[in-house]
Amino acid sequence: MSREFTTAAVVGLGTMGAGVVEVLARNGMRIVGIEVDQGAADRGKSRVEASVERATSRGKITEEEAADILGRITYSVSLDDVAPADLVVEAVPERLELKKEIFGKLDSVCDRDAILATNTSSLSVTELSVATDHPRRVIGLHFFNPAPVQKLVEVIRTVVTDQGVVDEAVALVERLGKTPVVVGDRAGFIANNLLFGYLNHAVQMLESRYASREDIDAAMVMGCGLPMGPLALMDLIGLDTAYEVLDTMYHQGRDRLHAPAPMIKQMVTAGMLGRKSGRGFYSYAKPGSSTVVPDATTPAARTVSGAALRPIASVGVIGSGTMASGIVEVFAKSGVEVIFVARGDAKVEAVLRKITSSLERAVSRGKLTEDAKVAALGRITGRTSLDSLAQADLVVEAVVEDLEVKRTLFADLDRICRPGAMLATTTSSLPVIECAAVTTRPHDVVGMHFFNPAPVMKLVEVVHTVATAPDVVDTVVDLCGRIGKHPVTCGDRAGFIVNALLFPYLNDAVRMLSEHYATADDIDLAMKNGCGYPMGPFELLDVVGLDVSLAIQRTLYLEFRERGWAPTPLLEQMVTAGYLGRKTGRGFRIYA
Ligand SMILES: NC(=O)c1ccc[n+]([C@@H]2O[C@H](COP(=O)([O-])OP(=O)(O)OC[C@H]3O[C@@H](n4cnc5c(N)ncnc54)[C@H](O)[C@@H]3O)[C@@H](O)[C@H]2O)c1
Repeated sequence: MSREFTTAAVVGLGTMGAGVVEVLARNGMRIVGIEVDQGAADRGKSRVEASVERATSRGKITEEEAADILGRITYSVSLDDVAPADLVVEAVPERLELKKEIFGKLDSVCDRDAILATNTSSLSVTELSVATDHPRRVIGLHFFNPAPVQKLVEVIRTVVTDQGVVDEAVALVERLGKTPVVVGDRAGFIANNLLFGYLNHAVQMLESRYASREDIDAAMVMGCGLPMGPLALMDLIGLDTAYEVLDTMYHQGRDRLHAPAPMIKQMVTAGMLGRKSGRGFYSYAKPGSSTVVPDATTPAARTVSGAALRPIASVGVIGSGTMASGIVEVFAKSGVEVIFVARGDAKVEAVLRKITSSLERAVSRGKLTEDAKVAALGRITGRTSLDSLAQADLVVEAVVEDLEVKRTLFADLDRICRPGAMLATTTSSLPVIECAAVTTRPHDVVGMHFFNPAPVMKLVEVVHTVATAPDVVDTVVDLCGRIGKHPVTCGDRAGFIVNALLFPYLNDAVRMLSEHYATADDIDLAMKNGCGYPMGPFELLDVVGLDVSLAIQRTLYLEFRERGWAPTPLLEQMVTAGYLGRKTGRGFRIYA
């Protein structure tokens, strides 16, 4: 029989502590919340009340339940008041000395059987435990932000934690309706270890002005289906907390990629802590608010050049694969005349069949009318010769990902297309400038990186090289809006925004697996239930294909020469073994 926890204490009622109080009180426990002083206790109380009120207004709990929950919570500024608790959760700022001092005091105040838990994101639970005389009862209970919403709780056991304490903690987490994952004591545990390298990288992208905050966030939300972009997430976590987590991770692993981007420290020093202070990467209506308000860096309009946009009446698309047919469909559906060129009549027919059946599916699902389908098909012309593109205003190539093939194609297009016509590549990993350099019009060459499936995915990365003319970028950005896509702009670097942020994280997950820190199932669970990701890293790797993922990771490594981005040997070995993911029936998992 596991213990029935009836009374708990939470020390520190900030972003996390207030959420943990709510979670515990919702499950019938009596809670005492401890803060440093009366002002902080009052702020903590309002945080809890506001969150319970939100849950009531959304119909998740009744007015009566809300009153009961709030009635079970008391607030205090004296640590002595934790004495009756069977469980104490510490959630003070991420500073080792402060936490150690609190654990020392808790040990002397609490009953011998009480469990002492820390909500630390990255500090050593072992170090905190040895600040007490009873390290066997110290454990990590790492809730995720916002605690009432995110399902995951990482339960961290040290080498001295009593197995009974681990079992009781797991049972409690389950009783709270959350998913426990038990892991050893290592900086960042599962989720933050994989998350914070990515967050830091996103800040570095912004810091180096590679892309705007809005574009970095939109790229990850729309390109990967994440619940929020990395910079908005940093604001939610709190930049001070994020700094401390990165700093601890850096000191434990000495991985340069975890060294906090200088901008984070500057923002913390300036008091720009994120939502809690009303200003972080974004500006908020008031401290604690989630409503973003415009500020000096909010883009006024998408156009940057101020020059007139180039007219686009007809578009050419080259290729007959998944991307090409998807792109043709997108243009035709949104009223643009498209000529596509494929190698041979059979391929032309195949593309037309693919688009027709895709449009018919849209009609049968009620997403498109029969008339709109007929009109879209009427805008599509299939050809087998590039000469048919002589009068196109924009040509988008989506042929095989092979640089020599693309360079030959761009040289041909340069000869064939009218002066002023823009030439775009959908490459996801080759340098756009390589294509531009074989033409006499590098200023007219741009990247248009659509995502698969193109008719569904909203994002397009519009890639400018060092030579691209600003009005070409503006025209293509505007066109993306006209065809119902969300454009983001970035420079011509390996991986652009999305792949550069996504693949190192996937590679890190493979490394974590190969180090036997956690299983693929636990890692997938942690990212889905802790961070709200639609798929865990191993599910995603199996869908994308391990060979494709390895190729992208190699490209990133070769371009940036970051040691931490070298493909994990396990990934290489799986590819060598032919375990490429779903397409071969076996990847990180085996498929029927
Ligand atoms: N922010 C997140 O997304 C997140 C997620 C999971 C875990 N954590 C961890 O939770 C802990 C708290 O982080 P946070 O983001 O809630 O920080 P926060 O700054 O929002 O809140 C910390 C609170 O602790 C109070 N405090 C400071 N000293 C205290 C003391 N001696 N006694 C009692 N209260 C004290 C502060 O007044 C403040 O209200 C950290 O260990 C952090 O790593 C944070």
